[in-house]
Amino acid sequence: MTILVTGGAGFIGSNFVLDWFAVSGETIVNLDKLTYAGNLENLASLADDDRHVFVRGDLGDRALVDELLVRHTPRAVVNFAAESHVDRSIRGPEEFIQTNIVGTFRLLECVRAYWSALPSIEKSAFRFLHVSTDEVYGSLALNDPPFSEANTYEPNSPYSASKAASDHLVRAWHHTYGLPVLTTNCSNNYGPYHFPEKLIPLIIVNALDGKMLPVYGDGQQIRDWLYVKDHCSAIRRVLDAGRIGETYNIGGWNEMANIDIVHIVCGILDEWRPKAGGGSYREQITFVKDRPGHDRRYAIDARKIADELGWHPDETFETGIRKTVRWYLDNPEWVNNIRSGAYSAWVSKQYDTA
Ligand code: NAD
Ligand code: TYD
Repeated sequence: MTILVTGGAGFIGSNFVLDWFAVSGETIVNLDKLTYAGNLENLASLADDDRHVFVRGDLGDRALVDELLVRHTPRAVVNFAAESHVDRSIRGPEEFIQTNIVGTFRLLECVRAYWSALPSIEKSAFRFLHVSTDEVYGSLALNDPPFSEANTYEPNSPYSASKAASDHLVRAWHHTYGLPVLTTNCSNNYGPYHFPEKLIPLIIVNALDGKMLPVYGDGQQIRDWLYVKDHCSAIRRVLDAGRIGETYNIGGWNEMANIDIVHIVCGILDEWRPKAGGGSYREQITFVKDRPGHDRRYAIDARKIADELGWHPDETFETGIRKTVRWYLDNPEWVNNIRSGAYSAWVSKQYDTA
C-alpha cells in the first residue's frame, strides 16, 4: 500500500514522513517542489529506505501528478504543500495564490480523475486529506471562545485567505463530485526542522548568534501551540478514522502570548547554554514594528477530534519546548546549512527596516 504526500520536505511534512515510517511499513511517494522551505536534509535518514520515494515537482503540474497517481496507485493523498509564512505572504502574495489555491485546485482535479476510475473497493477506501490552519477562522478577542469547526471563515492575511480558499475547494469537490475528503485545521506548530523564519526557531537561532530577538508590536498576540509530532499523530488518526467530508480542528489547549514564549525560550537557553559573557538572552529582546493586520489571538477547541477519534496530544508545552530547544542545540549544522543566500536575503529584507 502507498500514500502520496505533497510538501513532505517541509517542516510538518518531513516530521510526518519520518513519524509514518516509525509506525507503518507503507510506502510514501513524497512530491515536493523544494522551495526555500523544502529541505531534503530533513529526510536524510531515509536515503536508503525504499519505502520513501521522493519526487521533485509542483503539486500543480497535472501531467506529473497524473503520472504519479497512475504509477503508484495510492490509497490516500495527504496535502501539506503550501506557501506557509504570513510575513512572506504580506510582502509577496502571488506565490500563495499560485500554490495554495491554483495548485490545490489542480491537485484536486487530478485526484478526482484518478479516484473516479478506481475499482469500487479501492474507490470507497480512498481518502484525500487536506492539511490546513486555524488562521482561516480569523482573529479572536481575549474573551471569545476558541475556534470550533462551526466558526465562520474570516481570514485576514494573504496566507490565511489562500488557505481558506483551498479549504473551500476541497469542501466543494466533496459536495459536488463526492471526492472522499477530510480537512484538518491546526494551530501553530513547533518542533524539529522548523524553518528559522518562524517565531520559535528564529528566537533560538538569533539568541545563540547574539542577535536581537524581534517581538512584533507589544508581544501580547496569542497563539495556541502544538508540538509538531502531535499534529502528525492527529493527521494519522483522522486519515484512519475521520468521517468523510468532515473537518477536524487540532490544537494543544495551550494558548501563550508571544512575549511569554520568548521569555521561556530564553530561560531554557540561559539554563542549558549560559551566555559566555554572563547575563541573560532576555537582554536581546527587541520590540519591533508590528506585522500589518496582525491577528490578535488564535485558540482551538479540539473537543471534536478528542471525542470522535480519541486523539489527544502527548506533549505539554513544557515538554515540547524543551525537546525543541534541545534539538536546535544538537543540530547546529542543520541551521548552518539552511543559511543560504535566499534565507539571509529574507532576514535582512524583513528586519533591517523593522
Ligand atoms: P513549510 O513551508 O515548512 O513547507 C511547505 C513545503 O511545501 C515545502 O517543503 C515546500 O518545498 C513545499 N511546496 C511549496 N510549494 C509547493 C508546490 N507548488 N508544489 C509542491 N511542493 C511545494 O510549511 P509547514 O509549516 O510544514 O506547513 C505544512 C502545511 O501545514 C501547510 O499547508 C500549512 O498551511 C499547514 N499548517 C502549518 C502550520 C504551522 O504552524 N507551520 C499550522 C497549521 C497548518
Ligand atoms: P509565526 O511563527 O510567523 O506564525 P503565524 O504568523 O503563522 O502565527 O509567528 C507567530 C507569532 O509570533 C505571530 O504572532 C507573529 C510573531 N512574531 C514575532 O513577534 N516576531 C517574529 O520575528 C516572528 C517571525 C513572528
